[in-house]
Amino acid sequence: MMSIRLIKIAVIYLAIGMSLGLYMGSVQDFLFRSVHAHINLLGWASIALAALVFHMFPELVRTRLATIWFWGYNIATPISLVLLAFEVSGRAWAGPLLGISMTVVWAMGLVFAANVLINLRGSQAVPAR
Ligand code: HEM
Repeated sequence: MMSIRLIKIAVIYLAIGMSLGLYMGSVQDFLFRSVHAHINLLGWASIALAALVFHMFPELVRTRLATIWFWGYNIATPISLVLLAFEVSGRAWAGPLLGISMTVVWAMGLVFAANVLINLRGSQAVPAR
């Protein structure tokens, strides 16, 4: 169930990220290229990869670390992306807040890594269908 929710979240980022990329190209204004890159990479690519990892290794879903990661990452990432957009468009106040929220995203990356390193066992893989 977590994998399905994650894939749906990921494709929403994909749609937004690609649309921003196409818009940047069409108006030849690349101010938001870092926002575009991070929507696509933190949003689409990282979340879709996490979904596949959770699907392949369901034991990883039933952990406290997975729950912490799911909520922490999915709250801090969109906040960070909005703050990044404010920051690159010259709103200096966004800088420190961006630092805080991106630190949460980073911490959630460590939580995800810890979940894999602590709880993944070779025998748990779901056979390919
Ligand atoms: C319809 C799909 C997409 C379009 C139209 C698009 C368009 C663009 C454009 C116009 C740029 C700026 C190029 C420049 O600064 O000269 C860019 C940069 C970039 N894009 Fe995309 N993109 C798309 C999909 C993706 C996806 C799926 C990813 C990653 C999963 C991605 C990752 C990046 C990265 C890493 C950069 C470099 C950002 C930087 O230089 O700061 N893009 N893209």
